[in-house]
Amino acid sequence: MKVGDTHYRSIWYDSDKAKTMIIDQRWLPHEFRVVELDTLDEFATAIRDMWVRGAPLIGATAAYGIAVEMQRDASDKALDAAWELLHETRPTAINLRWALDEMRQALGGLSEGDRPAAAFRKAEEICDADVETNRLIGVHGLEIIRKIAATKKPGEPVNILTHCNAGWLATVDWGTATSPMYHAVKDGIEIHVWVDETRPRNQGAQLTSWEMNSHGIPHHLVVDNAGGHLMQHGMVDVVIVGTDRTTATGDVCNKIGTYLKALAAHDNNVPFYVALPSSTIDWTVEDGVREIPIEERNDREVTHVFGRLEDGTVTSVQISPDGTPGGNPAFDVTPARLVTGLITERGVAEASREGLLGLFPERRSAA
Ligand code: MRU
Repeated sequence: MKVGDTHYRSIWYDSDKAKTMIIDQRWLPHEFRVVELDTLDEFATAIRDMWVRGAPLIGATAAYGIAVEMQRDASDKALDAAWELLHETRPTAINLRWALDEMRQALGGLSEGDRPAAAFRKAEEICDADVETNRLIGVHGLEIIRKIAATKKPGEPVNILTHCNAGWLATVDWGTATSPMYHAVKDGIEIHVWVDETRPRNQGAQLTSWEMNSHGIPHHLVVDNAGGHLMQHGMVDVVIVGTDRTTATGDVCNKIGTYLKALAAHDNNVPFYVALPSSTIDWTVEDGVREIPIEERNDREVTHVFGRLEDGTVTSVQISPDGTPGGNPAFDVTPARLVTGLITERGVAEASREGLLGLFPERRSAA
């Protein structure tokens, strides 16, 4: 999407430099920094320390990480070791394993000499496919927004609440939850977005707000606890969020706090949609609450906040007393019964095994 007048993806291969480039998201919205990743260790660090984040982008970055390692050493041993190293960086988003498996499958039968070029081709293919997938999610999600818009009086926007950042920065382009929003705006539908700040790392405040600003989409940043109140007062027409892993039965794992939004939406009859590429479905998992590993991150993310001081310095400050430990589960699981629908690249499915299999019938034999 656009940054100023320039179109960016969140990750790309710069053929002049022969380097993989990313936007270092830790500095947004205060500084727009593009960095190159050179070694497998740098790719692993970029994912682990969240220079890049968001399920689809984590997968795409890992794919380029494998490609870079194949340039150094294209042996089976190096391929397996790279798979392991990258896989361990973040445990919850399933797109990571999906992309690593895609890479291993594409390279497995090739000679060592053929692997580097094939690996870069495959990484690029994963990125291009992600862009098209997210575009299609937008096309299908647009129908949901259009139907709500048809119930509005002239000049009244469709109010959409979103949590975390499931925008273009979390994917290669378009975003999952935000793609329907961009499509609605292009279609001339008036929308307004409530952006949850999303503590502890504030992906909503720092990233989604920045994306909305950059595209002139009317929005307000709200604290995480505001959603229930807004819904009780008819100020939210629909919730659209992303997901890091969705089970074969339609349970949705997403950024911590998503479950509470789903409960509030259910209590207030507000439709709760989840936008996802099929690479986010973990067909091996039945019960999201019991089976999905939840990443526990450093408690410093809770005890400190990152931001810009009035003198312009970008830094983090402590908000809790010395000695108070933080607890930091990064994701939670929203049971399928609270989800109105899953917006995928093939259409909108009911959040259930049958709903998903209806869109992905090739999975029936495995089910
Ligand atoms: O910890 P993060 O920032 O990687 O978490 C990201 C999210 O939870 C997103 O909502 C999810 O990955 C969907 S992204 C299209």
